[in-house]
Amino acid sequence: MQIASLGVPVPVFLAPMAAVTDLPFRTVCEEHGAGFTITEFLSADGLTSGAEAMVSKLEASLDGRAFGVQIFGRDSHTMARAAMMGVERGASLIDINMGCPAKKVVQGWCGSALMKEPALAQDIVRGVRAVVPAHIPVTVKHRAGWDERHLNAPEFASALVEAGAAMITVHGRTRAQGFSGQADLEVIRRVRQALPSTIPVVGNGDVVDLDGYRRMRDVTGCDGVMIGRGALGNPWFFRSLRALLGGERDPGAPSLEERRQAFRRHVTLIGNLAQPKRHVTEVRKACAWYSRNQANGAAFRNAVFKTKDLPVLLEAAHTYFDGLR
Ligand SMILES: Cc1cc2nc3c(=O)[nH]c(=O)nc-3n(C[C@H](O)[C@H](O)[C@H](O)COP(=O)(O)O)c2cc1C
Repeated sequence: MQIASLGVPVPVFLAPMAAVTDLPFRTVCEEHGAGFTITEFLSADGLTSGAEAMVSKLEASLDGRAFGVQIFGRDSHTMARAAMMGVERGASLIDINMGCPAKKVVQGWCGSALMKEPALAQDIVRGVRAVVPAHIPVTVKHRAGWDERHLNAPEFASALVEAGAAMITVHGRTRAQGFSGQADLEVIRRVRQALPSTIPVVGNGDVVDLDGYRRMRDVTGCDGVMIGRGALGNPWFFRSLRALLGGERDPGAPSLEERRQAFRRHVTLIGNLAQPKRHVTEVRKACAWYSRNQANGAAFRNAVFKTKDLPVLLEAAHTYFDGLR
């Protein structure tokens, strides 16, 4: 798939997810076949004011792999400056968040609230496009609309493309839906139809297995698919998708040994890359993700969330995963 001058050989994206898609998580997904990963959304105000909590999340993918940085805000100058911070960090793509439904974001009139202000949304894209080097695409991720009476994704996407957006990702839910109900594939199809064929459209929402992937592609005609919650503790989904796209047999669910190895790899990456004060929290999350649907998983997770001591936590985790039969 081609996003302006950026080639993405495997059009399967890991969705940006706050407090999830940090560098360890992205790396594990990339190593299992994700075609492209993007940071979680980063506040342009936070980045440009030098807030350490925000700046530290501008993490380049390992081994020189291409990656994207997602930013949010409503002031085009601040957004442009934040975008340049991503570029300086090595980003191959700048994505603008116009889909976040969270109260604290929409109350600041950012995220999905911008779907009610297409002219301002266009200004933001133009402002960012004007400063980012020409070879780096500026893209937008948005929702189906604000609510079911305002499903303006096709017109909104067209306006963004006119302003310079090189790719549109649509999460097929409205802001009012939050994460409830089901993603509406018909709206994504209409976005695909509304845009020139040179602008890739990425379909997003509820793709958790190969059938869901095929449905997303077939119903919407989208050029790429973005996977969010379906990747939690399941990086093997990317392996299956890569095999499908390469015309190979689906390697299927991981063996227990593969699960152990992925957990160990994830925890090692946390140890090497996460801020020390985050280690316990991040290891706990990894424990929860990789133990989902496994024997005695609930009891293990209960124990893990009571443990504050990192060595004790790691010992318990390795004992659990090593003991899985
Ligand atoms: C925990 C969590 C955090 C999220 N954070 C972001 C974010 O930072 N930026 C963004 O564009 N979307 C964010 N999303 C939305 C996802 O990118 C995606 O659009 C949504 O989860 C639907 O895809 P899925 O059904 O494959 O999970 C988040 C979703 C979850 C569950």
